[in-house]
Amino acid sequence: MTARDNIAPPAGMLAELTHRCPLGCAYCSNPLELEKPASELDTATWKRVFSEAAAAGVLHVHLSGGEPCVRQDIVELTAHCANAGLYSNLITSGVGLSRRLFDALVEARLDHLQLSIQDVEPASADRIAGYDGAFARKTEIARWTVEADLPLTVNAVMHRANIARAARMVEFAIELGARRVEIAHTQYYGWGLVNRTALMPSREDTEIAVAAVEALRKKHAGVIVIDHVVPDYHARYPKACMSGWARRTFNVTPSGKALPCHAAETLTHLDFWNVRERSIGDIWYDSPAFNAYRGLDWMKEPCRSCERREIDFGGCRCQALALTGDAANTDPICEKSPRHGGVAALAEHDAATGAIDYRYRRLNARA
Ligand code: SF4
Ligand code: FES
Repeated sequence: MTARDNIAPPAGMLAELTHRCPLGCAYCSNPLELEKPASELDTATWKRVFSEAAAAGVLHVHLSGGEPCVRQDIVELTAHCANAGLYSNLITSGVGLSRRLFDALVEARLDHLQLSIQDVEPASADRIAGYDGAFARKTEIARWTVEADLPLTVNAVMHRANIARAARMVEFAIELGARRVEIAHTQYYGWGLVNRTALMPSREDTEIAVAAVEALRKKHAGVIVIDHVVPDYHARYPKACMSGWARRTFNVTPSGKALPCHAAETLTHLDFWNVRERSIGDIWYDSPAFNAYRGLDWMKEPCRSCERREIDFGGCRCQALALTGDAANTDPICEKSPRHGGVAALAEHDAATGAIDYRYRRLNARA
C-alpha cells in the first residue's frame, strides 16, 4: 500500500485557459495578479494536460478563464476534450461568442454551457459587468444554447447591488430555459476581498434573499436545479470549500500552475507545481502543496475534534489565511473560531458603507 492508495483520483478540473476577459466584474475569482497572454500555455500543452487529466480519472473539465472564447484554439481544445472522453463545460460571459464560434463549439461536441448573469435589470447588469450591452448579448447566447439543445446553467453572483433580485434571477433563469441555476453569494478573496466594502450586503437583505431562493427551490423542484452557494460572512458555519483541499478537483492557471483552488496562490508559503514540468497524475498525488491541507491531519483545534470536520473540512484555507494570518486555522466564518466575532463586525461595517464603487478587474481581449 502506497501513500497514493489513500488518495481518491480527481473528478474535476477547472482549466483557466486565459485571464483575458472583456468584462471587469469586481468579484472575479481570478487572482489580483492576472497572467498576461504571453505566459499562456500553448495548444499542444493544453491538449496533453487534458489527456493526462482523463488518464488520472478526471470526468468533468470546465473550460474557463477569464473568457475562454478569446482563445483562438477554443474549438480545437473542446474537440480534444470530447476525444479524451471528458465532459466539457464552457464557462463563458457570452461576450465575444459569435454565432459562428458557437456553432463550431457545438460541432466540436461541447457538452454544457454555463453563462454568467450579473442582474435581471439590464442597466444594473452592465454596470456590474463594467461592459455596456453585456446583458443583451447574454440573453441571445442563452437562446442559442437552448435552441441547440445544449444543457444551460445560469450562474449569478449575489452582492449588495443585486441581492434584492435574487429570487428574480431564478425566475429569469427558468425563462431563459436553463436546466440549472447557481445563486452564489460573493466569496471574499482576490478581487472580492479588495471590493468587499462595495459588495457586502446587509445581514437582513442576505437573510431575505436566502429564504426567497430556498422557497423557490421547493416551488420549482423538477423544473430547474437550484444550487445555492450560501453567504460566507453572515453564516454560522463555513462552506466545505472545494469539497475539501485537493480532495475532488483542481485548477490549472493560464500559465500552467496547478492549484487546489482558484485563490491558492495567496498561500505564498506553498510551491505550486507547473503542468509544463509535471504530469497531472504526479501533481495530484505527490505535490507538497496539494498534500499540505489534504485530509484531516493538518487541522488544529477546534476543527481537530469537531463533529463537522468531515462535513466542511474546516472551511476555506485561503479565507483562514486572509482573515487570521494562518491557513491552518479554523476558517473564522465558523462560530467555533475564536475570531468569528471579528468577521461579523467586518461584515456589519462593510455593509453599512452602502457604496457601490468598484475596482474593476481589467485584462481585456487585446491585452
Ligand atoms: Fe467546521 Fe472546524 Fe468549525 Fe468544526 S470547528 S464546524 S470543522 S470549521
Ligand atoms: Fe482556497 Fe477556499 S478558496 S481553499
